[in-house]
Amino acid sequence: MNSKMLRSASPAGGGLFFCWWKRGWKCGRVEVRIGIVEVNFMKSGKRPDPNVIHPIEGYDKEIYVKPTIQNPNILVGDFTYIADSDFESHVTHFYPWSRDKLIIGKFCQIAAGVEFVMNDANHQMNAVSTFPFYTLEGWEMEQPASSDMPFKGDTVIGNDVWIGQNAVVLPGVQIGDGAIIGANSVVGCDVAPYTIVIGNPANVLRKRFDDELIDLLLRFRWWDKSVAEIDSLIPILTCSDLERVREELKARL
Ligand SMILES: CC(C)(COP(=O)(O)OP(=O)(O)OC[C@H]1O[C@@H](n2cnc3c(N)ncnc32)[C@H](O)[C@@H]1OP(=O)(O)O)[C@@H](O)C(=O)NCCC(=O)NCCS
Repeated sequence: MNSKMLRSASPAGGGLFFCWWKRGWKCGRVEVRIGIVEVNFMKSGKRPDPNVIHPIEGYDKEIYVKPTIQNPNILVGDFTYIADSDFESHVTHFYPWSRDKLIIGKFCQIAAGVEFVMNDANHQMNAVSTFPFYTLEGWEMEQPASSDMPFKGDTVIGNDVWIGQNAVVLPGVQIGDGAIIGANSVVGCDVAPYTIVIGNPANVLRKRFDDELIDLLLRFRWWDKSVAEIDSLIPILTCSDLERVREELKARL
């Protein structure tokens, strides 16, 4: 820990902890390094833990997704949560034989009712019928060649993406860091970083910030920093004075 971290710690963030630091007793969040052992005291005396399933005590309708994943083709980063008690039921048409992956970054916020539709949802479209005879008992049809099936690749969601209620993400879509997906949107095309999209089909409502600030954020990658560092960055990450944020990021890059 350095004195900068102490100065920038959010006063609203922690339980009441006191420590001796350079010029006297201070209160706030405290990280103590003892040899190679690092002990962090944060909100309510707890350290954010990406491996717990229920990050809100006494409430099971919001979960950190990563520790719940069973399917090896779903990869989710630390602290991404969904407003539900289960995640994999939101990923549809995803079978053991599926060829695609669902990759989601860190710190994403996924609302209730969101659905990730995977490639095996798509029927053959280059023949006169789309009926999937080969999947159903009794019909004389072999599985079509994979080249005859629509395949749009992996679905990739960046970091710190907020996906609004009941949004549907279609196969192979890539959503950039910091994007926002409006409620009930149907996302069929890629979404650039720090861009808000809405509607069906989802179209750009606006970019969240100017190009310079977006570039700074994409280079800074706050989500890749340590838990203690992210904790100390909260006053910057949640500051609505974007000019100050711009200067803070420039100073740190
Ligand atoms: C996308 C969103 C963040 C935009 O918020 P905003 O920037 O404040 O947007 P505004 O309310 O100013 O709306 C701007 C325009 O987009 C339209 N719009 C906003 N959200 C929309 C949506 N989800 N679908 C369709 N149109 C939408 C508005 O009607 C408005 O249209 P107009 O300019 O023709 O009047 C917000 O509307 C949203 O969908 N939030 C998701 C909430 C949610 O699902 N939370 C889940 C719990 S975490």
